[in-house]
Amino acid sequence: MDLYEYQARDLFENYDVPVLQGIVATSSAEAERAAEKLGGTVIVKAQVKVGGRGKAGGVKLAHSPAEAAAAAKDILGLDIKGHTVRKVMVAEGADIAEEYYFSIMLDRTQRQYLAMLSREGGMDIEKLAKERPEALVRRNFSPLEGLTDSIAREIAEDAGFPADDVEKLVPVLQKLYETYVGEDATLVEVNPLVKTNSGELLAIDGKMTLDDNADFRHPEHSELVDHNTTDPLELKAQMMGLNYVKLDGSVGVIGNGAGLVMSTLDVVAYAGEEFPGSPKPANFLDIGGGADAEIMANGLEVILADEQVQSILVNVFGGITACDEVANGIIQAYKILHTQGIEPKPLVVRLDGNNAEEGRKILDDANLPNLQREDTMDGAARKAAELASQADQNK
Ligand SMILES: Nc1ncnc2c1ncn2[C@@H]1O[C@H](COP(=O)(O)OP(=O)(O)OP(=O)(O)O)[C@@H](O)[C@H]1O
Ligand SMILES: [Mg+2]
Repeated sequence: MDLYEYQARDLFENYDVPVLQGIVATSSAEAERAAEKLGGTVIVKAQVKVGGRGKAGGVKLAHSPAEAAAAAKDILGLDIKGHTVRKVMVAEGADIAEEYYFSIMLDRTQRQYLAMLSREGGMDIEKLAKERPEALVRRNFSPLEGLTDSIAREIAEDAGFPADDVEKLVPVLQKLYETYVGEDATLVEVNPLVKTNSGELLAIDGKMTLDDNADFRHPEHSELVDHNTTDPLELKAQMMGLNYVKLDGSVGVIGNGAGLVMSTLDVVAYAGEEFPGSPKPANFLDIGGGADAEIMANGLEVILADEQVQSILVNVFGGITACDEVANGIIQAYKILHTQGIEPKPLVVRLDGNNAEEGRKILDDANLPNLQREDTMDGAARKAAELASQADQNK
């Protein structure tokens, strides 16, 4: 589970990581009161579980309670990369001299933890890692060893911090590590970790991901769950028992088996590069083994409820589920949706594996409008991407 910034801030505070006061507000009146309470200059920050809030207008400076109210009014309701802002955090303003980056995460391939530190924080860290990798120190360390004094010092020195700063940094990095371990997190990221003009270190923006597998050790974490945050489409899919993740593109994807769906996403993204607008996958949806009509109809319904979707790719490899059943499922799903007044977007179907020939024939005979069949995964992905691209161009 990803946490909101204010939740990460609260946890940091429990572990004595230096943070600023922050008060959550859900209305501009609440934000005004929060600013009064904190006094002085405050920052009003959108609380959404995506990065890039500042660039999207979700982080604003306010010099008075009235300004904080106005900032909250602007930010609340804002859509940031598909996430609606329902809460802001009003935080004390910091007198920032320098901005750094620090994170600890689980490095599964190395079976170790990975710490990263840079003197150039605040900005887009992915960009920094790509353009100037030497400015970002990466250090694996063993969970058995932990982030010892000497490792923390080494990381800070390698990142090029002067001796004075190294001394101040080591305990802060270690407290963040204690938070990481103590809360069973898979990610703790501070961007920026700042040095103020008076030389104090402060974690200004925190992101945390908790390991759901460790929930049984943390009954208190259940309070951190925010049902509002779940994407409405994901919620709808969850209720239907579907394994669905909303993405940002325009090609809806349905497949059977997580592995097949994952590779379908890759193939669609790759095929999309060929077409204007570079259409990308709109979602992950694994309908699992039982691709019967109802599941197929539910899957299509969820995908069609996504306004971004312009075409749909159904990619099924028949194993236990035979392709003729899937084909019948698609046809019946069409009927079910039709009675609900839901009009399908162009659908591209690729069936292979068990009873593929029968399945293909059933679809061909049904001659459904808006449905095209392709024999290969690549061909189907290209067709679906092309259709989405055309629809986007015609908008
Ligand atoms: N409490 C604060 N006092 C002073 N400046 C702040 C404060 N909080 C944030 N800022 C400034 O705003 C910038 C962006 O803030 P922050 O890192 O919280 O959001 P973001 O990076 O845009 O969002 P995200 O982390 O979601 O990408 C910081 O780099 C910092 O310069
Ligand atoms: Mg940030």
